[in-house]
Amino acid sequence: MLQQLDLIEKEALAALQAVNDEVDLGGWRVAHLGRSSPLMKMFDQLGTLPKEERPSIGRRANEVKRALESAQTSRAGALRQNALLRSLQMERLDVTLPGRPIAHGRLHPVTQNLREIYSIFADMGFQVYRSRDVETDEFNFQLLNFPPHHPAREMQDSFYISGDHPKDNPVLLRTHTSPGQIHAMREYSATNPENPPPVRIILPGMCYRYEQVTARSEIQFNQVEGLAVGERITMGDLKGTLSDFARRMFGQHVRSRFRASHFPFTEPSAEMDIECFVCGGVGCPLCKRTGWLEILGCGMVHPIVLHNGGYNPERYTGFAFGMGPERIALLRYRIEDIRYFWTNDMRFLEQFI
Ligand code: DAH
Repeated sequence: MLQQLDLIEKEALAALQAVNDEVDLGGWRVAHLGRSSPLMKMFDQLGTLPKEERPSIGRRANEVKRALESAQTSRAGALRQNALLRSLQMERLDVTLPGRPIAHGRLHPVTQNLREIYSIFADMGFQVYRSRDVETDEFNFQLLNFPPHHPAREMQDSFYISGDHPKDNPVLLRTHTSPGQIHAMREYSATNPENPPPVRIILPGMCYRYEQVTARSEIQFNQVEGLAVGERITMGDLKGTLSDFARRMFGQHVRSRFRASHFPFTEPSAEMDIECFVCGGVGCPLCKRTGWLEILGCGMVHPIVLHNGGYNPERYTGFAFGMGPERIALLRYRIEDIRYFWTNDMRFLEQFI
């Protein structure tokens, strides 16, 4: 039996050498010191031994048990030490490695253009007025002097939310930012109906038209509307303000011109062109060989529109304008397809810092 105990000790210690982690060590403990391990079985058998053998075998069995326990403790310590060393080696922090670049967020190119437009008009004393995206036929058309069957409506096919007959005053997605003129004038004039205060605002926002989507037209786009109403505002103020805007936006030396046009809500109406910045006015494919690029529509606010906003047209005059920032960005950056703006392709968007 003494020999058997020697063998148990030898085998257990040899097996311990092969243990390499905490889980294995647990298994080793069960196998060699657990209830049904060979060593424990020896203890169980002690009672069956002749009396004179019991002390020496018992002593030896206890010795083996202590030896295995202390071997287990020191193996556990060694394993912990190894694990620590390994993690120190593998997870060593190399402070000389180059850092990982942090991706910079950036503003959408149209937002960048919008902000530039806001800041130019802010310098001239215009405030930003936010108006709703969902309108009624009345505000989108009628109060702006588009009667129910006016042909100018043809230019602005609409997304109807309810009905589509003007007489029923359907709800629709605004086709332009101009209805904001009525909301703003009514809000301002309500503060003092006898002497309405002057208005000097820009109205930015998304507009929607039921159109075929092409490289040049989208069903969704921004506009920035402008409105100035007061006493003695003239066409000279309109031209001065917009020419100054063009110089600040496109460069101090850019030339601009006004061409007669027609909008139901302005009289007289005009379109403003700037000299083509690609060819300098000589004529090129961008300006279709005219030397000019159209950037906005404008005019003196129609008396009916002033009246609909609560401003007496006998006393007040005003000018208004409307431009499309996507269109301006197309021209500025010479982008050939307007659809890029809302496709969310990072390869396109990342080009605008
Ligand atoms: N609302 C016009 C459109 O979408 C743009 C416009 C033209 C706005 C002339 C104006 C203006 O305020 O005076 O086509």
